[in-house]
Amino acid sequence: MRKREKKKAATAQDQPLRLNRILSLAGLCSRRQADQWILAGRVSVNGRVVREVGTKAFWGRDRILVDGKEISRPSRRLYLMLNKPFGTICTLSDPQGRPLVTDLLHDINERVYPVGRLDFDTMGLLLLTNDGEWAYRLTHPSYRIPRVYKVTVSGVISPKALRDLSRGVSLEDGPSGPASITLLEKGPSRSVFRMTITRGKSRQVRRMAEAAGYRVIHLIRIGFGSLALGDLKVGRYRHLEPEEVAVMKRLVGLS
Ligand code: URA
Repeated sequence: MRKREKKKAATAQDQPLRLNRILSLAGLCSRRQADQWILAGRVSVNGRVVREVGTKAFWGRDRILVDGKEISRPSRRLYLMLNKPFGTICTLSDPQGRPLVTDLLHDINERVYPVGRLDFDTMGLLLLTNDGEWAYRLTHPSYRIPRVYKVTVSGVISPKALRDLSRGVSLEDGPSGPASITLLEKGPSRSVFRMTITRGKSRQVRRMAEAAGYRVIHLIRIGFGSLALGDLKVGRYRHLEPEEVAVMKRLVGLS
């Protein structure tokens, strides 16, 4: 454990923290969701149900239960970047038994979960963490975190389609919002472009391409916020550098 992380874990036990912060540090939910759980009577401290938002407790010393289940002790915060392979799923379990992205984290014993989702057939930059508040903010539309994709579509993409994509198209759940587009390749059988969007609607890139008249045949996320996938190999992960975490925290008003 790095010095700074050790200090954080120690601090968590030495001073009382608001319950919503403890639940989010434990990676269970965002602070806002924790407040709702408290109001709903789902949280107890040392055998007493707590319904007052703002109640503090000593994490690691007090017995804190959510729905009758004791929450984990303070542990180190983990911030990972994975290059997600094709054919893996971004949930923590899958009834169909498909490979999970978390199966690729061989040396990680803590429970971490993906920050947002990439489709089964999308590759590229996926963050995983046990920091609930950070994950919640990064995926919240109000923070408008840029996501950069390298998109391959079949056929020759027309100037009109590129214009439509950059202005934004209409999707069944509302407007897509604009995109920043850079054409990288245009051939008879396929076209490749870089696309940056600041919303994370489900299957947004594929649906935008379809609305513009094209089918995505290959999709890879190459950037998220201030982070770039770089030369991280497919299926491999790395810990973010402290400076990378700090910048990504600043982007969402944490730090
Ligand atoms: N847009 C998509 O269509 N799919 C992804 O996996 C991510 C963004």
